[in-house]
Amino acid sequence: MPTTLPEPDADERAHSRELAALIRNEIAANGPMPFSRYMMLCLYAPGLGYYSAGRAKFGAAGDFVTAPELGALYARTLAGAFAPSLRELGDDTDFLELGGGSGAFAVDALREFAALGALPNRYLILEPSADLRARQRERIVRELPQDVAARVAWLDRPPEQPWRGVLFANEVVDALPTTRFTLREGEVFEEHVDVDGEHFVRVDRPADALVAGAVRHVERALGRTFEDGYRSEILPQLPYWLQAIAATLERGAMLFVDYGYPRAEFYLPERRDGTLVCHYRHRAHADPLHWPGLTDITAFVDFTALAESGVGAGFEFVGYAPQGQFLLASGLLDLAQADDEVERVRRTAEVKRLTLPGEMGERFQAIAFSRGLDDVLAGLRMFDLSRRL
Ligand SMILES: C[S@@+](CC[C@H](N)C(=O)[O-])C[C@H]1O[C@@H](n2cnc3c(N)ncnc32)[C@H](O)[C@@H]1O
Repeated sequence: MPTTLPEPDADERAHSRELAALIRNEIAANGPMPFSRYMMLCLYAPGLGYYSAGRAKFGAAGDFVTAPELGALYARTLAGAFAPSLRELGDDTDFLELGGGSGAFAVDALREFAALGALPNRYLILEPSADLRARQRERIVRELPQDVAARVAWLDRPPEQPWRGVLFANEVVDALPTTRFTLREGEVFEEHVDVDGEHFVRVDRPADALVAGAVRHVERALGRTFEDGYRSEILPQLPYWLQAIAATLERGAMLFVDYGYPRAEFYLPERRDGTLVCHYRHRAHADPLHWPGLTDITAFVDFTALAESGVGAGFEFVGYAPQGQFLLASGLLDLAQADDEVERVRRTAEVKRLTLPGEMGERFQAIAFSRGLDDVLAGLRMFDLSRRL
């Protein structure tokens, strides 16, 4: 267990124990729980999971800072990059944001769309957390003019009717409950969570056909077999998830931005314990069993798997590039200009956080797909690195 993390207060400890009790009960009833189920409960158990309970998660007072939280430049740049596609699609367009976080992206993107005369007809947010939805709604109503805020609506599930427009997700794929696997005597095992006295412990059990098949697919694609003891993450459900969220997008584009690697880097032989990272009050640690419900749990994204899923769902591949180059090629520096000296210095610092290789510039990457649209995201295609996928 990490020893250098700040201690939660009494309320937080009580909250975590309540979630732990729920997990224990499920394990008592069904036996050891797949890690993906444990992660799902830790993040999304109604009222108790990390994203479902009322704590501040984003920004200085929370556990981590995302690109839209740094300031308005990220959302403004992406709005500018999408504006030509929205205009080409005509009047009846939607912008669908998955996982709206604090609502920062929606507010800044809608302001920019309004300034550019490219407002989508509706701005839809698919957000599983009731707490985050309430925060998003409150912020949008507070910060946007009424006629713009009126375009925003929340969805419980992906759109069922055919629609046109743009689908966007920043740091959502890394929050999908991931499967962890390992190899023993050449066989694929899936990591589970069990109870040992007061504690949760990891146990490995033979993988089912879905997980084993997904691991074997990766081995075939890499041209090597994982050695015994190698442990990593995989999202066997990714193709089905993507198909579910994007199937009804009749004409338009989708963009996913997240931290991750092309497959060959994701599964480097020396990365023997995967990519899982937990965040608690701006400290990263590697123990997801520590204070369940209080800690964010994420895994890096295998961008090759995401590319396969997008193409498998019937989309055309547009491009794959590091966030920094993508934003710079999409007009970020023009937006960083400001007459006010203090504001200019602030924006310069924001540009550095978004683009420098040691900050978010290379660790975060963007991948896009389209259907029935040409010339999508010119700035992304300019730095396309899809040969690495
Ligand atoms: C790390 S936060 C990122 C929030 C925001 N996009 C940002 O960049 O600040 C992950 C977000 O994804 C949401 N989320 C998780 N799983 C999701 C899913 N299957 N569909 C849509 N949103 C999801 C979470 O509730 C949360 O809002």
